[in-house]
Amino acid sequence: MADDLEQLLRDARERIQGASLRAALEEARVAILGRNAELTQRLRGIAQLPADQRGAIGKRLNEVRLQIEAAIAEREQQVAARELAEQLERDRIDVTLPGAVVPRGGLHVLTQTRRQIEDIFIGLGYQIAEGPEIELEYNNFTALNIPDGHPAKGETDTLWIAPGVCLRTHTSPVQARTLRAQEPPIYVIVPGRVYRRDTPDATHSPIFHQVEGLVVDRGITLADLKGTLAYFARSLFGADRETRFRTSFFPFTEPSVEVDVSCFLCAGDGCGVCKQSGWIEILGAGQVDPNVLAMVGLDTDEWQGFAFGMGIERIAFLKHGFPDLRLLYDNDLRFLEQFPA
Ligand code: PHE
Repeated sequence: MADDLEQLLRDARERIQGASLRAALEEARVAILGRNAELTQRLRGIAQLPADQRGAIGKRLNEVRLQIEAAIAEREQQVAARELAEQLERDRIDVTLPGAVVPRGGLHVLTQTRRQIEDIFIGLGYQIAEGPEIELEYNNFTALNIPDGHPAKGETDTLWIAPGVCLRTHTSPVQARTLRAQEPPIYVIVPGRVYRRDTPDATHSPIFHQVEGLVVDRGITLADLKGTLAYFARSLFGADRETRFRTSFFPFTEPSVEVDVSCFLCAGDGCGVCKQSGWIEILGAGQVDPNVLAMVGLDTDEWQGFAFGMGIERIAFLKHGFPDLRLLYDNDLRFLEQFPA
């Protein structure tokens, strides 16, 4: 009987040791300690034993049961630890492996150009102002001294949305908005998208971008405009650039000028880009017409101003010399990647 029990304990230990998975260990536990297991039957049979054997056998049976339970608990820990280790090994990530290369985007050449222009004027103390692309006829034209019947207002140039409402044809309406919103002195630049009824070709796009400048202060003269734009042209196109003013006309500036910069490709000798003239037109400008200031109630004896407006596409085009404006809108990476930012 005692030998029997020792054998049972040995067998049980062997089986427990042999179980290397949690499921197998659970099976072993049921087989050794379960309701129908031999040990359980024997424990149950204690009551039927003769009274003088009951104590010793019962004690031994219970010791065996406790030893088996302890063996199972110990084995359970080993199995759990091994399973965890295996799982960790399976899930291990080699952080030293090279990752999948994520292609990095860059700033569009138009954005780069806009920021370069903005930075030059921000460096001079200008602030950035913005206005809506859907604009009142009043701001786009009337407040800028553009009379009814002016050709720019016609169906051919302007995209009308409703009577009295259009897609702005230039950033100049933000001049009118700023003059109403701020007290002078005013030093602002206005980047933005503008719309014209143009058929796209190598040099035209019905949607393009401008940067407007507006200064209103005491004692502003054309010399301030010239100095500012000369500084701007040198900052953007190179330290040797000269600027020249040609007389022109805009309803909202008087006098009005078109501004040329000496050709940065041939340095004035004449080439294809400057059409042999040595000069390249970069923007329109002028002194703010006193009518525009008077319309917002400013005393034109006290306040004078200048304004200028340039096309960002044109500036980018001149700086980089690509052959067709439409390349800017095609999102062809072979083009865009030539302007890493
Ligand atoms: N708004 C004019 C244009 O689109 C440019 C301009 C702006 C001219 C400010 C003079 C002053 O052509």
